[in-house]
Amino acid sequence: MSRIAVVPGSFDPITLGHLDVIERAANIFDEIHVVVVHNPGKTAMLPIAQRVSLIEQAVADRALPSTIRVTGWSVGLLVDYCTEVGAQVLIKGVRSQVDVAYETPMAIVNRNLAGVETVFMLPDPAHAHVSSSLVRQVASLGGDVAPYVPRAVAEFLEQSREG
Ligand code: PNS
Repeated sequence: MSRIAVVPGSFDPITLGHLDVIERAANIFDEIHVVVVHNPGKTAMLPIAQRVSLIEQAVADRALPSTIRVTGWSVGLLVDYCTEVGAQVLIKGVRSQVDVAYETPMAIVNRNLAGVETVFMLPDPAHAHVSSSLVRQVASLGGDVAPYVPRAVAEFLEQSREG
């Protein structure tokens, strides 16, 4: 039986830290579903379809394994997606104890809701300071975000600013 793992997140936009976790996950599991989900606690910068497209471009540019698929999910609980596709595991990248504290209640609730386990994965410490919210802030104020995001995202944000 092939093991499917879901890497969920807002990905608003995807960062190099996210990409690092996706690549590590793809080296362990048979199939990876990167799922762009609306976070009810956040105001989004980009529509879900745009975020999906940027992740697809980043995965292709990096020539990551073809076992990675990218999709959006906006019709219910994240674990409903997991049940629908037969995924047993969620993967969350954790940069620090702050992330662990934020993720732990969700991991327990997701396990209680549907028996889906969460695996915490450590990104390369080089990305420890990178977050989508910081990228959004720097980009909105005209700063260079190229060191923190895949090329496709840097180009998209640059074009959005010019247009
Ligand atoms: O990248 P983020 O914003 O930290 O990701 C959080 C996300 C989107 C994974 C989380 O908000 C989520 O799972 N939302 C979907 C709704 C849901 O299933 N809520 C219950 C989770 S305990």
